[in-house]
Amino acid sequence: MQGIVRIAKDGKQMRQAGLLVERMKKGDAAPDKHFNPYLHEAMEYGNILFTGSEWAEKNAAVFDDADKPLLIEIGCYMGKNVLEFANHNSGWNVLGIDITYKRVVKTARKIKNLNIKNAKILISDARAAIAEIPDGTLAGVCVFFPDPWPKKKQLKNRLLQGPFLELLARKLKPDGFFWFKTDSEDYFANVRLTLENQGWAESAPDALPDHLEPLPYTTVFEALFTGKNLPIYRRVFLPPRKS
Ligand SMILES: C[S@@+](CC[C@H](N)C(=O)[O-])C[C@H]1O[C@@H](n2cnc3c(N)ncnc32)[C@H](O)[C@@H]1O
Repeated sequence: MQGIVRIAKDGKQMRQAGLLVERMKKGDAAPDKHFNPYLHEAMEYGNILFTGSEWAEKNAAVFDDADKPLLIEIGCYMGKNVLEFANHNSGWNVLGIDITYKRVVKTARKIKNLNIKNAKILISDARAAIAEIPDGTLAGVCVFFPDPWPKKKQLKNRLLQGPFLELLARKLKPDGFFWFKTDSEDYFANVRLTLENQGWAESAPDALPDHLEPLPYTTVFEALFTGKNLPIYRRVFLPPRKS
C-alpha cells in the first residue's frame, strides 16, 4: 500500500483512490515513503473532505442539512465550479468528486477558508460513489471535460459509457439532470447516442439546468479550450421517464 500516493486515472489504483486518507483518518501513520504533503493536509478537513467508505456510510448526512437537493460534480479538479455552484445556490448541497490528493485537498482548503457550509469534497472513483446513492434521489450531476481517452485502445477507460449512464438514470430524481460538457466531438457523439438509446431527453444546445441559478459555470478546462477558439459540445440531459 505504501506506494499508492499518486493516483493513476485508470485500473486498480483509481479504484483505491482515498484508501490512504481513509487509513490515516482511522489513526494509521502516514507512509514514510513518497511523502505527499496533500495527504497530510487532508487530515485537517475531517468535516469537509470525505472518503468513499464515509460516503457509503453517511451519504447526504455529510452535509449540515441533508434535506437540500444534492448536486454532484464529477471530476471537479481544484473545485472552481463546486464553489460557484455552492455560493450561487444556497438551497442546494454540492458534492465535488475527484481522485487525486492535490485536487481534493485544494478544493477542501477553499471550502474551509471561505467557510462554505453547503459544499463538500469526496476522494473516490465516481463510479463507486454514485453507486452508493439511493435510487431516485440525486437532483443533478455535472461531468465537465472528462478525460477523453482519444486512442482506440484507451476508449474502455472513458467514464461515460452505457452502464454508468444507466446508473446515473437510476440515481437521478424524475426532474433531475445530467449536464455534460466536452471538447471531444467523438466523446460527445457517443454519449449522446447512448443516452438517446436509453430514452433520455436533451435540452437545447446552450440551455442551462432548470433549477439552478442560471450562470454558465465555466470550468478551468473550458476556458483553456475557448481561449484557443476550439468548439465546446454541451447539453443538459434529462433522465428517461420511469413507468
Ligand atoms: C480533464 S479534467 C477536467 C477538470 C474540470 N472538470 C474542468 O472542466 O476544468 C478531468 C478531471 O476528472 C478527474 N477524474 C478522472 N477520472 C475520475 C473518476 N473516475 N472519478 C472522479 N474523478 C475523476 C481527474 O482527476 C480530473 O480532475
